[in-house]
Amino acid sequence: MVVRVDAASVNGADLLLRSGRLGVLTGRRFPKQIGIDFVGSLVAAHPEADLSGVSVGSRVWGTVADQGGSLAEFVGIPSTQIAAAPNNLTSLEAVTLLAGGTTAYTGLVQKAHLRPGERVLIRGAAGGVGSVAIQLAKALGAHVTALAAAASLEFVLGLGADVARDYRTATREDLGKFDVIFDTNGSDLLAFRRLLAPGGRMVSIAFGKKAPVRGLLAIAGSAVFGRRRIRFFLGKPTRNDFQRLTEQVERGEIRPVIDRVFPLAQSADAHTALENHSIQGKIVISISE
Ligand SMILES: NC(=O)c1ccc[n+]([C@@H]2O[C@H](COP(=O)([O-])OP(=O)(O)OC[C@H]3O[C@@H](n4cnc5c(N)ncnc54)[C@H](OP(=O)(O)O)[C@@H]3O)[C@@H](O)[C@H]2O)c1
Repeated sequence: MVVRVDAASVNGADLLLRSGRLGVLTGRRFPKQIGIDFVGSLVAAHPEADLSGVSVGSRVWGTVADQGGSLAEFVGIPSTQIAAAPNNLTSLEAVTLLAGGTTAYTGLVQKAHLRPGERVLIRGAAGGVGSVAIQLAKALGAHVTALAAAASLEFVLGLGADVARDYRTATREDLGKFDVIFDTNGSDLLAFRRLLAPGGRMVSIAFGKKAPVRGLLAIAGSAVFGRRRIRFFLGKPTRNDFQRLTEQVERGEIRPVIDRVFPLAQSADAHTALENHSIQGKIVISISE
């Protein structure tokens, strides 16, 4: 399948891959191809491909799995990596939701089994994953406490968070107890685990930028030390995940938040912006839209 790409976005994983800081997971050989998600037009398909609801000319969205980057004018991918894109969003808007939407669903629903009325703490709540996690948790009927930078507190409340706290000044003791902790930051994981209420579940999707090996060890060790394992997963979404997300978006449960748009030629600046800027939602790369 060949997709002409309208838009891609910049993800934390791109920065990690490019930096080589966690080469044990991402591989140490360079050069590497950058970009995970894409929205675009299906321009060619194998005659025997299982297209499942899309056809040549359809607007589709998806992620590349292990076969190269989406920061390109065209991507070649298996049919299982795409689904019809939501019909109520532009490509620039839609691409903001792919990584966050699939990761938040896996974390909150499939790993943490978040239930209506439960209290959830979301760390990194203004970022690409956190901003979708807030909306999904609210759609699931949970009470949401968002930890974000001071400049983003209004923003996360606007996404539906019930309580917003500044991660630089809030003390853990003041935050209270939670049925679910969804951590997109990865630092101090064992300290945050103490905030779980009886029966609580904790999921982390990151190891921490400054000391990723420490985060990795905390997650691995949590299965052995202490009674509550911190669950980690590496998202590998496929067609079913994209189809579910399309339905959630078309039902209006999740809306996109674009922080800034860069043209493809300024992708390096987009990476620098994600590294340095206090992000609200996603940085998008416009390719042919
Ligand atoms: N395992 C998986 O399948 C998976 C999938 C997707 C992403 N990830 C990983 O998840 C992480 C987050 O991804 P993302 O795309 O959401 O990144 P992002 O857009 O850069 O968002 C990160 C957010 O965390 C905030 N933050 C920084 N330090 C914090 C702290 N100590 N406490 C609370 N919040 C803090 C940042 O706020 P300020 O910038 O305002 O300080 C920013 O809003 C990345 O490491 C990424 O690689 C993993």
